[in-house]
Amino acid sequence: MTHTITLLPGDGIGPEVAEAAREIVEAAGVSVKWEEYSAPLEDGKRVGEFPREQAVASVRRTHVALKGPMATAVAGGAPSINVALRKELDLYANLRPVRNVAGVSSRWTGVDLVIVRENTEDLYAGLEHTVVPGVVESLKIITERASTRIARFAFEYAQKNGRKKIHAIHKANIMKLSDGLFLNSIRDVAKEYPEIEYREMIVDNTCMQLVMNPAQFDVLLLPNLYGDVVSDLAAGLVGGLGVVPSGNIGDEAALFEAVHGTAPDIVGKGIANPTALVMSAAMMLNYLDEVEASRRISGALDKVYREGKYTTRDVGGTASARQFTRAVIGALS
Ligand code: NAI
Repeated sequence: MTHTITLLPGDGIGPEVAEAAREIVEAAGVSVKWEEYSAPLEDGKRVGEFPREQAVASVRRTHVALKGPMATAVAGGAPSINVALRKELDLYANLRPVRNVAGVSSRWTGVDLVIVRENTEDLYAGLEHTVVPGVVESLKIITERASTRIARFAFEYAQKNGRKKIHAIHKANIMKLSDGLFLNSIRDVAKEYPEIEYREMIVDNTCMQLVMNPAQFDVLLLPNLYGDVVSDLAAGLVGGLGVVPSGNIGDEAALFEAVHGTAPDIVGKGIANPTALVMSAAMMLNYLDEVEASRRISGALDKVYREGKYTTRDVGGTASARQFTRAVIGALS
């Protein structure tokens, strides 16, 4: 069967890593018709608008997308396209498996956790305004509906994937109403899954616990902002942003992307590490029930990393992105 997949290569190193991921997916024997959308680029820089409406319409048709990173201006400028895509497509669950990659040196071994982040509300609702000059208000939106929905996603995910324990992460001691509602909604859902151990932890303590003893965690369930911050922290435990994939999943569609950004400092040098997007593509293939192809890609990555001959500089190697891609294709069994 041929899958139709929306491909959004993105900005900066996005097109470089997207090309690698596309080649590896095809080499794994998956037949794909790609619907590609990107902003016009010159020297890796966006020189026109990203065709958001067409891209969203495409994902609504194909129900699945693979996406490279997209640049967002800091303090001002247009709102994030990443956040807009997640909201418009109602991709309410952000799923980030974080585990050690053999051969990548990291602070810890034995890390194997999954971050489930609510993806549509919280401070990312983007509702900010100037009350009077010098005073800005930013609204943190938490609803029972979204909190219950993400809790159900997390418990279902845990059940289907043999996960044993869920920590709900919060700051309900201070934000008693908003994080309180998040927590209460999760408690209600947790009662329906007595076989999964349910715990709660305050977000600042969670950061310390992750750095001190990450192996105690299995699934972490967080509202949007804490989820964003904690998932980068977790990536740092296993070797950094270059080796962590993610999926943004809704009831109608899913979009898979690397956790890292556009890496403006290394654009066009041919040294960007495609691993995170390739891992995201492997997650996407599982979602499409191409389980065998997904397994082959994960196995090939594992082999290349164990051998350590063709890894990129960010993980201590010397290979170019092309050499790495060719090595992964060669390792597909
Ligand atoms: P970044 O992730 O782009 O870069 C941080 C550091 O990691 C840089 O030194 C970079 O060279 C390195 N790095 C990142 N990915 C790498 C890879 N695949 N291979 C080798 N090295 C890699 O983070 P930064 O600089 O904070 O953000 C740059 C832009 O990316 C911003 O406009 C930001 O908004 C955007 N961004 C987009 C995301 C998305 O589309 N999902 C996620 C995060 C950031």
